[in-house]
Amino acid sequence: MKPTVVVLPGDGVGPEVTGAALSVLQACLPVEVREGLIGGAAIDATGDPLPKETRDMLGSAQAVFLGAVGGPKWDAGPARPEQGLLGLRRALDVYANLRPARFMGLPVPLREGLARHANLLVVRELSSGVYFGEPRSLSDTEAVNTWRQTADEVRRVAHVAFQQARKRRKLVTSVDKANVLEASRLWRRVVTEIGKEYPDVALEHRYIDAASFEILRSPQHFDVILTDNLFGDILSDEAAAVAGSIGVLPSASLGPGPGLYEPVHGAAPDIAGQGIANPTGAILTVALMLDHAFGRQDLARALENAVLATLREVRTPDIGGSGTTAQFTHAVHRYLAWSKWSEAEEPLPAADWGV
Ligand code: NAD
Ligand code: IPM
Ligand code: MN
Repeated sequence: MKPTVVVLPGDGVGPEVTGAALSVLQACLPVEVREGLIGGAAIDATGDPLPKETRDMLGSAQAVFLGAVGGPKWDAGPARPEQGLLGLRRALDVYANLRPARFMGLPVPLREGLARHANLLVVRELSSGVYFGEPRSLSDTEAVNTWRQTADEVRRVAHVAFQQARKRRKLVTSVDKANVLEASRLWRRVVTEIGKEYPDVALEHRYIDAASFEILRSPQHFDVILTDNLFGDILSDEAAAVAGSIGVLPSASLGPGPGLYEPVHGAAPDIAGQGIANPTGAILTVALMLDHAFGRQDLARALENAVLATLREVRTPDIGGSGTTAQFTHAVHRYLAWSKWSEAEEPLPAADWGV
């Protein structure tokens, strides 16, 4: 029986990159697709950014793919598309968000010599912190958010980071603001304690301000960056500087049940509808799904190789080319077909993606 993937295209460029990603997924591993509404599209249709029909689909899924949500149309509220995504992460209890970023041979806004050796993985806590803490409120004169962190929440995501580091260069950099925030002091204490269970993995701590600078100055230093929900959101966009564009970063959000697979970028309303969105992040997200949801490391590596080969040939405007989403996707299909044919002759070299 084919596995079921719930697909939530969302808003802006979300449907464009989802179409590309889904066609590639079907070429790698045929799946049963159930498509649902989320974000602004769901608000327009039902008034709710995460409607009950979408929630009800989740039970049938082996994996969930999300394009992107948001856009100026819904910024004034009352319901916001982003609430749909946050509610989805909550509903799936996906607490560990893996966001790999590495040099991909593209033009980068950094000293290329340094970026050339960059290959890092942000492990972002996704279920707690200031994103979800209560109480929270907003009036004309005052706004309140609560940064709440429990030891158990830190523990479970720390284990994921150390386990990922074991498969890589065995260095975890934990990023916090322990010089100011109590939530960060607990974070640092618990990460240190969990680190003792992984004596083969080196652990270092950085403050968020220093880490932000270090990622731009010496990106090649980092292996696994373990950090909380808000800092991880920011650092993962910053890490896009080593890859060349926010449009090329994939992510996998993992928990006890089906994972949520989402490119790191947003709805990009400035380029939506033009057919020029970079589908690389969404397609590499499919590779993460093949790896983590379906245990098909062989297909994941073949797809990553096809994407890297395609990037030498077709580039969308965000990475300095004039290619379209369709042209890029077409070339990925061509390389995939070629790799299936050539694999009979000799196995593909490992892509060394590190996740
Ligand atoms: P964004 O990531 O949408 O766009 C930032 C810049 O990167 C823009 O110039 C955009 O054109 C470019 N870009 C992004 N993805 C691209 C792609 N695939 N190809 C080429 N260029 C790409 O971030 P933003 O502008 O801050 O946010 C826009 C909306 O998206 C907001 O409503 C925000 O809340 C939402 N958002 C959603 C997600 C998500 O659904 N996972 C993530 C981030 C932002
Ligand atoms: C991301 C996005 C989301 C986040 C928003 C849209 C809620 O920026 O996935 O990086 O902050 O987690
Ligand atoms: Mn973000």
